[in-house]
Amino acid sequence: MNAFNQIFLAIKALEAGKLVAFPTETVYGLGADAENDEAVLKIYAAKGRPADHPLIVHVSEKADLSYWAKKIPLEAQKLIDHFWPGPLTLILNKTEKVSDIVSGGEKTVGLRCPSHPVAKDLLSQFKGGQGGIAAPSANRFGRISPTLAKHVQDELGKDPRLAMILDGGASEVGIESTILDLSRLTSHGASILRPGKITSQAIAKVIGVDLLNREVGQDAPRASGTLLSHYAPKTRVVLMSPDQLDAYIANHPQKRLGVMTYSKANVKGAFFVLKMPQDKALYSHQLYAALRQLDDLSCDQIVVEMPPKENDWEGINDRLRRAAH
Ligand code: TXA
Ligand code: MG
Repeated sequence: MNAFNQIFLAIKALEAGKLVAFPTETVYGLGADAENDEAVLKIYAAKGRPADHPLIVHVSEKADLSYWAKKIPLEAQKLIDHFWPGPLTLILNKTEKVSDIVSGGEKTVGLRCPSHPVAKDLLSQFKGGQGGIAAPSANRFGRISPTLAKHVQDELGKDPRLAMILDGGASEVGIESTILDLSRLTSHGASILRPGKITSQAIAKVIGVDLLNREVGQDAPRASGTLLSHYAPKTRVVLMSPDQLDAYIANHPQKRLGVMTYSKANVKGAFFVLKMPQDKALYSHQLYAALRQLDDLSCDQIVVEMPPKENDWEGINDRLRRAAH
């Protein structure tokens, strides 16, 4: 079936209160009509996700954001002009149009305008471009996000609530969007709840560094992606610096180790070695598929040689730490 018909069917399914998995440039999403509570509840059920974990509302470029957010601060508008469509989610104070089921009981809403052409088509045609699609990553709660349609099929394909999976190839970015809280700008400034491809430095360039560096209090909004254990394979993951790696492998001769290397070309004594790219965009693009591949080998442990600690690797390092927790 051609892409046009697929989008048409996906919109029919969303209108009927069913779930549709769709590709975005970050990871695949599990979508429902954000204005249909019954449909949104199916997302929580299909994922096995606790009800107090809010969902991001995906919108098209032409969406009227004042429908979803009470106020669009100047900083938000600057970031939208600069980074949308793209992998940046903004947390803003919600209007009464956003139900508590979508916001997980919070007074805020996460808004994101994805750049993947299939997501764009879907959003621009859903309710004439003014609809919202509530969507978490299309994986079971706590597990690795899907970056291929096949990953969604493997994890949720048998769920009767899922009407269809739109296949848009491999997600280019490969890790979830950067989440920036702008809901308490005057008191708390802007704070990154989840790092991603769009780095704190890139955001600071647009809204100024002072706003980003204010102290974040304990009452910061919760983001399930900020749970310490998340994005995790079933196999235990351990992180190593390059100089620890050889000794670790030598000290565990009885264990089947699946090793993900970054700088090392030669690793002796491992059961399986997967070499990751040097380039950070390629590394992030391949990260979740690599973790899935190693997880499928039924090793005793997945051993990861840590990539660089530089600022622009913050999203990747964050996901590796959570996978290992
Ligand atoms: O790249 C992405 O963001 C992907 C694609 C599908 O768009 N979506 C995604 O959704 O990663 P999810 O639900 O797996 O992770 C979204 C995170 C969760 O940790 C959630 O708690 C947080 O965003 N979040 C959503 N709305 C929020 C809000 N109003 N306040 C605080 N955190 C929020
Ligand atoms: Mg997720």
